[in-house]
Amino acid sequence: MQDKTIFITGGTDGIGRATALTLAQQGMRVVIAGRNTAKGMAVCQQLQKQSQNPEIHYIPLNLASFTSVREAAGRFSQDFNRLDVLINNAGVFSSKLRLTKDGFEWHFGINHLGHFLLTHLLKPLLLNTPAPRVVNVSSVAHYHGKINFDNLRGECGPAAFSGLEAYAQSKLAILLFTRELARREKRIVTNALHPGVVRTRFGNKYSNWGLSLFWHFWKPFMCHPQRGAKTSLYLATAPETEGVSGAFFDEQQRQRDLGAMAGNDMLACKLWKESCRMTGIGS
Ligand SMILES: NC(=O)c1ccc[n+]([C@@H]2O[C@H](COP(=O)([O-])OP(=O)(O)OC[C@H]3O[C@@H](n4cnc5c(N)ncnc54)[C@H](OP(=O)(O)O)[C@@H]3O)[C@@H](O)[C@H]2O)c1
Repeated sequence: MQDKTIFITGGTDGIGRATALTLAQQGMRVVIAGRNTAKGMAVCQQLQKQSQNPEIHYIPLNLASFTSVREAAGRFSQDFNRLDVLINNAGVFSSKLRLTKDGFEWHFGINHLGHFLLTHLLKPLLLNTPAPRVVNVSSVAHYHGKINFDNLRGECGPAAFSGLEAYAQSKLAILLFTRELARREKRIVTNALHPGVVRTRFGNKYSNWGLSLFWHFWKPFMCHPQRGAKTSLYLATAPETEGVSGAFFDEQQRQRDLGAMAGNDMLACKLWKESCRMTGIGS
């Protein structure tokens, strides 16, 4: 595994950063992607120092822009000759309705569509390696999600918007994407996970004051990002997951049942086709 190249979205903070550190300590070539170049470069240098591994690189990527996703995939393909594991880790939670540069509701656009497009663009590189894997960071929130195809561009308006519902929808979308990719690309081992409730700044970045306060008070009871990275690491590298694809794992690396929505094959297929249409790629 030592000569493998691993690409992690959202490797600049929280769980993604912890995942990148462990992989670098194991001697992998790690490429982190993030939307803030100054922060990305600084984190890259810190990770190199902490891991004593010079093979850590940074690529600018804003998942809220299809143009940026395309540029990041192009840059990755140009700079690196292989991709063994893609970890789609980046994510946001926002209490307020926000739209991506392409006009999609933020959670759906960043958490799902950006990763959907990125994975599609990097697929040729993945398929060029002997045992490719895709790891998608979802959440148990997906159990409460449903896909509202009529409200993916914030059509409901700011007053009727619920950040929790939009987040759950995006995490369900990631699971449906996981299952459909596993079904379509048998050579790519693709799984999704819940990392646990993890002490990061996730719940503070774009929450209203009530949720932010709630997150702040619960922080002492949350697990360390290094522990939150465990299932991502397991799905990215453990030999025992080689034969499992299209599944959902919890924070203790146990395979968990899918909810009724996530297990719906017709919904997975419909979302795939719609995601292709929305990102402008062929299905
Ligand atoms: N923490 C939890 O308890 C928990 C529970 C369940 C699931 N999760 C999931 O775990 C994943 C990681 O979350 P975390 O807790 O580590 O949160 P975090 O500390 O806020 O890290 C999120 C990462 O995503 C990046 N990101 C956000 N928007 C982006 C965009 N538009 N383009 C590119 N990168 C972007 C962030 O970049 P910046 O550094 O610029 O902010 C950061 O690197 C998320 O998918 C989240 O939904 C977390």
